[in-house]
Amino acid sequence: MIPVTQHSTAFQIVDVKKTFDTADGRQVQALDGVSFEVEAGQLVCMVGPTGCGKTTLLRLMAGLETPTGGQILLEGKPVVRPGADRGMVFQQYSLFPWRTVLKNVTFGLEMKGLPKKDQLKRARRAIQQVGLNKFEKAYPYELSGGMQQRVAIARALVNEPQILLMDEPYGSLDESTRLKLQDVLLALCRDHQKTVLFVTHSLDEAVYLSDRVVVLGGMPGQVVGDLTIDMPHPRERVSQQFVECLLHIRQVIADSALNDNGVDLVPVQRLNGHLPTPGPCCFQDIEPQRKNP
Ligand SMILES: Nc1ncnc2c1ncn2[C@@H]1O[C@H](COP(=O)(O)OP(=O)(O)OP(=O)(O)O)[C@@H](O)[C@H]1O
Ligand SMILES: [Mg+2]
Repeated sequence: MIPVTQHSTAFQIVDVKKTFDTADGRQVQALDGVSFEVEAGQLVCMVGPTGCGKTTLLRLMAGLETPTGGQILLEGKPVVRPGADRGMVFQQYSLFPWRTVLKNVTFGLEMKGLPKKDQLKRARRAIQQVGLNKFEKAYPYELSGGMQQRVAIARALVNEPQILLMDEPYGSLDESTRLKLQDVLLALCRDHQKTVLFVTHSLDEAVYLSDRVVVLGGMPGQVVGDLTIDMPHPRERVSQQFVECLLHIRQVIADSALNDNGVDLVPVQRLNGHLPTPGPCCFQDIEPQRKNP
């Protein structure tokens, strides 16, 4: 097991704003003043309604986009480009169609110039982790969507990055594969102290996996909730604590949707201390304010 410094900060996301210029000359503001920190070794799930900026934030953290306001620091240094320390699993898996499963997974290692023997050893281990060992010679067009997504996950795992940025990685998987891969991810985090940012629409998945759930809401997206989940693993999905956490997050999302429809809100985080709620969840509350009272 790799030791990790207790409570060292991985990401600092400071008042991040992102506006896109569209092809037809419009401007779309995706994020507006998003701030939170991620500790090294934490598994943080990001949830929130479609269009609230989850993918945008992940791409900014990966260095694939640049913020139009604020900044993102990784271990104290601004994120300016992608790096080998960060592995990304995209919402739309993007495999090389002309490469087999094995060759898709070895690609990053080939780029690094790793000896062929090591490439194959590591790629086969990653392919086995996602349960595709019988398909290493298959091409992407021969695989189902879920299988292709598993190749994309193996491709991120094989580079053994310290940070995984995962955008709805299990969204297209069948239930049993999804549950299995959730446990694969937890084992990986336990054994290798990965820092993981994981976007999902499944609140069950978020509560099962996370040390913490950050809820984004609104258009442009803002942080509307931040929930610490202090439950030992493996988590019992039908336990009272689990269900309470899940309902709590659902309520935060519902409340923020209500606010979106009514008032122009600026969330202000109360950062000093957690407000306890029933069960093991600690909710770091967000206090909405009117921009122009
Ligand atoms: N390259 C781009 N050009 C213009 N607008 C963009 C671009 N990327 C994202 N957006 C806009 O930014 C907003 C946030 O998009 P984003 O993909 O981050 O949402 P999301 O929370 O990931 O949604 P979903 O849950 O559907 O994946 C949307 O309004 C989207 O149209
Ligand atoms: Mg998205």
